Amino acid sequence: MLSPSGKRLLIVSNRLPVNISGAEDDWTIHPSSGGLITALEPLVRRCRGTWLGWPGCSSEAPLSDLLREFSDRQEYTLKPVVISEEEIEKYYLGFSNRTIWPLFHDLLGHCTFNSEHWEYYQRVNERFAREIAKLIDGDDFVWIHDYQLMLVGHFLRGMGVDVRLNFFLHIPFPSCDLLKRLPWRQEIMHSLLEYDHVGFQTTNDRRNFIQCLKRLAPEAPVKKYKRKAEVLVEGRTVRLGTYPISIDYNEFNDFAGSNDVADAAWYIHENLPDLRLMLGIDRLDYTKGIPERFLAFERALEKYPDLRGKMALVQIVVPSRLHVPEYQHLKGELDALSGRINARFSSQGWVPIHYMFRELSRTQLLGYYRACEIAIITPLRDGMNLVSKEYCASSIDNNGILILSEFAGAADQLSKGALMVNPYDCEVTADAIYAAFIMEPEERQRRMKTLRAEVRRNNVQRWIEWFMESDTVGHEAVDEQAESPAEQPVSHTR
Ligand code: G6P
Repeated sequence: MLSPSGKRLLIVSNRLPVNISGAEDDWTIHPSSGGLITALEPLVRRCRGTWLGWPGCSSEAPLSDLLREFSDRQEYTLKPVVISEEEIEKYYLGFSNRTIWPLFHDLLGHCTFNSEHWEYYQRVNERFAREIAKLIDGDDFVWIHDYQLMLVGHFLRGMGVDVRLNFFLHIPFPSCDLLKRLPWRQEIMHSLLEYDHVGFQTTNDRRNFIQCLKRLAPEAPVKKYKRKAEVLVEGRTVRLGTYPISIDYNEFNDFAGSNDVADAAWYIHENLPDLRLMLGIDRLDYTKGIPERFLAFERALEKYPDLRGKMALVQIVVPSRLHVPEYQHLKGELDALSGRINARFSSQGWVPIHYMFRELSRTQLLGYYRACEIAIITPLRDGMNLVSKEYCASSIDNNGILILSEFAGAADQLSKGALMVNPYDCEVTADAIYAAFIMEPEERQRRMKTLRAEVRRNNVQRWIEWFMESDTVGHEAVDEQAESPAEQPVSHTR
């Protein structure tokens, strides 16, 4: 079956959408979760497409049997790119997650610049390109994803591949002042121009990219359109578009109303009776602003004593990238901070922070979405943040309150109904927590209805259609000056 654009679909991402676990002769393979995967998996299944990526397991696993079993079950094909331990260390943990990840999230202080890591990033990107070249023909819709694979376009062109290449960046694109710190900025910019179509999460990311082009690739003229731009590079046109990723609204809305989720929510309430629950749920990552959130909650408890004994923060942290030292350090910091705040404020029968470090099943996740009257999602910087959209879609009684960081990509769509905060501003975040605690039911309903209508309208199907249709349709030209002044490039460096 073909993709909505009428072509065979090939998705390429660093990770395949699976978890492989086990030992010796007992191995299992399951679909995994995460923003990128949740958005693309239904599409690739519907189109019976192919997904190419790293299987994320040790070399002893019987990979081909496991992948064949999964492909038969899910009706789409998985193709592995094998990456050695040393490459994982330098390409994935090193260059991808200690250089590009912090730099693109405006957290320069967390960056490492290491030329050996850069060598390995090139080497693995070239391997991905070779595997893609083996699979494609001129009629495929090739869609490469995210910051780990920015050089694949360059290597594919070097191999003489001339099919249309699409790329989507799931994380923010930094301002030019930040990108200029990267010793390999020219290579990254020029490789991105080898794709035919590059998608960004927000207008701000696309504008930052254009600013970088003007400074780092001034030979490539840029034509601006309403939500898009085109760059002319050596006789080719590269389209640049803004496509905010989203979720399957109906799936969350329907599942949130199921008996299983109602039971899970009831169980959470039974264990934490008579409390207003405020939920934080994040992958373990310093971009998510979790320590800042703990401190803001502490400040709220100091400033508004009537919260004590009546409100609790349920913070779920999903383990991630634990081999990167910054992530290990963050884990230690969260353990210490939650312990200190709980020791300071707990009283008979009440603990302010319920902090869990683990994965959740989907039923548990939606149970928390339904049981918690407030969600606090306060990243220091985030490409989009789909948890905020999932929370709204699951708030089927229209009574949840969303506290959202102005530095999440989702802020562009959700700022009308959410309580917006600057996560670096402890006082403002503490005040928002209290405002959520005392908010009248009418205002809660009004805000959540606005949020749900937005998530329902701009759902993941629309994201896919926008991206795929933009690969083929023309645009209405506008003067850059006509675009909203609120969308100027920004940089938030701590
Ligand atoms: C972010 C990135 C994805 C990545 C995911 C999980 O959402 O944009 O590309 O797959 O985090 O991180 P991991 O390093 O475990 O793949």
